[in-house]
Amino acid sequence: MKVIAILNQKGGVGKTTLSINVARAIQLAGCKVVLIDADPQGSSRDWNSANGGSLLPVLGLDRKTIEADIKNIQGYEYAIIDGAPQLREMAVAAIKAADIVLIPVQPSPLDIWATSDLIELIKERQTISNKPKAAFIVSRQIQNTQVGKDVRDVLSQSGLKVFDNGTFQRVAYSDSLASGSTALDITGKAKEEIELITNELWEFINA
Ligand SMILES: Nc1ncnc2c1ncn2[C@@H]1O[C@H](COP(=O)(O)OP(=O)(O)OP(=O)(O)O)[C@@H](O)[C@H]1O
Ligand SMILES: [Mg+2]
Repeated sequence: MKVIAILNQKGGVGKTTLSINVARAIQLAGCKVVLIDADPQGSSRDWNSANGGSLLPVLGLDRKTIEADIKNIQGYEYAIIDGAPQLREMAVAAIKAADIVLIPVQPSPLDIWATSDLIELIKERQTISNKPKAAFIVSRQIQNTQVGKDVRDVLSQSGLKVFDNGTFQRVAYSDSLASGSTALDITGKAKEEIELITNELWEFINA
């Protein structure tokens, strides 16, 4: 099972939104996927309740033992971890469990600076293990601004990959999740963005 952790200790950057949509994209590609809610806030579990558990299997694993706990999960090709904000030791544990880490980051200096601890944790792990591979995904960009491109340039200085595709600020993301659905289940720009991100993710997984 490949484990993809979506992490950023900064709150509200789009971890849960990306986790649910990426999990749904992988499911729509015909793979068996489980969404792991590693956040005690339980946002992914709340979303799962909103659709009566009908869309994706969602499991709550919000303890430091996540690396061992995840090994007990059978029958899936992919596990997507929706990470918790703030909790550093949860981030450390999720990094250990992960083959791939995706870091959604909003296009603002404060948000970029706040990723330095996470980058360090990932690099530390990479020196003792040959994983995880990690990449930034610029999240919640504002239309018709150049900021997204500048942010990519700055983030790439970390040495981690930066995805060419990201998300823009769109109500379709919040509206779809509020009704227990996903951006992929509604035609529109948000759906197109998630499809582009997922294409890039497949390339990254197989690189
Ligand atoms: N691209 C987007 N466009 C518009 N709204 C978005 C977008 N991405 C996320 N949001 C909204 O921003 C808020 C925070 O997003 P989300 O819950 O996914 O972030 P998070 O990183 O998981 O937060 P937390 O750290 O609290 O777990 C939510 O209300 C969500 O609907
Ligand atoms: Mg969240």
